[in-house]
Amino acid sequence: MAATLVIFGASGDLTSRKLIPALYVLLRKKRLPAETTIVGFSRTAFSHEAWRERLAESTARFIGADFDRETWKELASRIFYFSGDIERRDDFLSLNDFLKQTESTPSSTRIYYLATAPRFYETAVAHLGAAGMAVETHGPRRIVVEKPFGVDLSSARQLNRKLHEVFAERQIYRIDHYLGKETVQNLLVLRFANTIFEPVWNRNYVDHVEITAAEELAVGHRGGYYDEAGVLRDMFQGHLLQLLALAAMEPPVRYEAEPVRDEKVKVLRAVRPLRPEDVAEATVRGQYRGYREEPNVRPDSHTATFAAVRLYVDNWRWQGVPFYLRSGKAMECATTRVVIQFREPPSMMFEGGPRSPRDSNRLLIQIQPAEGIQVHFYTKVPDGGMRLRMTDLNFLFREKFSSPMPEAYQRLLLDVIQGDASLFARSDEVELAWSIIDPIQSTWDVAARPPLLTYEPGMWGPAETTLWMERQGRSWFDTCPVLH
Ligand code: BG6
Repeated sequence: MAATLVIFGASGDLTSRKLIPALYVLLRKKRLPAETTIVGFSRTAFSHEAWRERLAESTARFIGADFDRETWKELASRIFYFSGDIERRDDFLSLNDFLKQTESTPSSTRIYYLATAPRFYETAVAHLGAAGMAVETHGPRRIVVEKPFGVDLSSARQLNRKLHEVFAERQIYRIDHYLGKETVQNLLVLRFANTIFEPVWNRNYVDHVEITAAEELAVGHRGGYYDEAGVLRDMFQGHLLQLLALAAMEPPVRYEAEPVRDEKVKVLRAVRPLRPEDVAEATVRGQYRGYREEPNVRPDSHTATFAAVRLYVDNWRWQGVPFYLRSGKAMECATTRVVIQFREPPSMMFEGGPRSPRDSNRLLIQIQPAEGIQVHFYTKVPDGGMRLRMTDLNFLFREKFSSPMPEAYQRLLLDVIQGDASLFARSDEVELAWSIIDPIQSTWDVAARPPLLTYEPGMWGPAETTLWMERQGRSWFDTCPVLH
């Protein structure tokens, strides 16, 4: 199968840090289809050779000690560069001619990857349309759209409209790199390839669900982007709501793109939208001390770098079960996980046994780092009468499997080449996610409620987050990271 991957925004960070290293590893693993070529498109003038050299250097840096010159040579021979301006329609016509010359067969699959700044997405799509480059007369044509997909519901709708003027939905691949993570996909395997979890995965047994994506790193050099986006747009709209959808969805009828996405959409549609008057009580927002001094951040910025949000999924399975979503920069440690907190047993005959959800069974799915699963349960202390203690069972991928966890982009790129959209967001999914985020963001921005709290870097967000949970009779599971 011949395929051409055209990367718009080829001189950017994403290309050198993620895309090319992922393609290199796919080639090394012999998974990259034999006739795959890569064409970089960007304004900077490079010869093919100069671009290859630049990528050789960055790829070697990202791959590290395993970098193998022979594999690189093979990949480099498939890499080309085309210098053009995304804002000039004629440059797309020339690009099209160039692609026709480079492609080994006219029926080659073409993938247009938008790795540019988001403000160029609509222009690129319109120019691809005008140049007839989306038409599938000869072979499949696909477009990959990186995040952020809009900045709110109306801009996401507008972008979807523009995309649909040129591409059919089945040609569009919206990236959320969390879906490319093995442990995120494993959520479905855990739930639907085992019989022991699903019967208790509902409101009868679950007290609440906690989804945390904590980052130890601060904003760093991304201040310009981040100060406009903030934590809700950056982490919640995509990554955290995707985790919620996978944790809460019903079993799809088949493991295929449409049934899987249908079920995720049903969950997002069942999420109770927060009314402006609920936002102050249902969310906590914070900014780490020192954020305003970061490069390219406004000195009086009110951008939140931390948020905790309580959502409810109004359906039979989850009625009344809160989903606590939380994410922040400059937190105590880097850990992303889903915690299923079970209820206490209906009656307790042992002293010291669990009497509230706070000290009851827990299933912890650690998405990263040290990918794995932990189950918390009670046991009898040997030779201690009927004394009980909470203990755990641990599963770590790296202990059971010899191959290391692949980078999300390897899987995602391969899926686009092969035409499998299961791990990509559909238009309705993205719009529903924005419709959950928009009322929160606008209440924060317009009504300034709840107040923006300051937290010290290296904490689990503002201290109020802990009190907020306590007022609801619950507590966060704050062990850092629990598996390592
Ligand atoms: C990106 C966000 O989408 O995800 C970043 O823009 C964030 O701010 C990153 O750091 C987190 O991804 P990962 O794979 O490191 O958890």
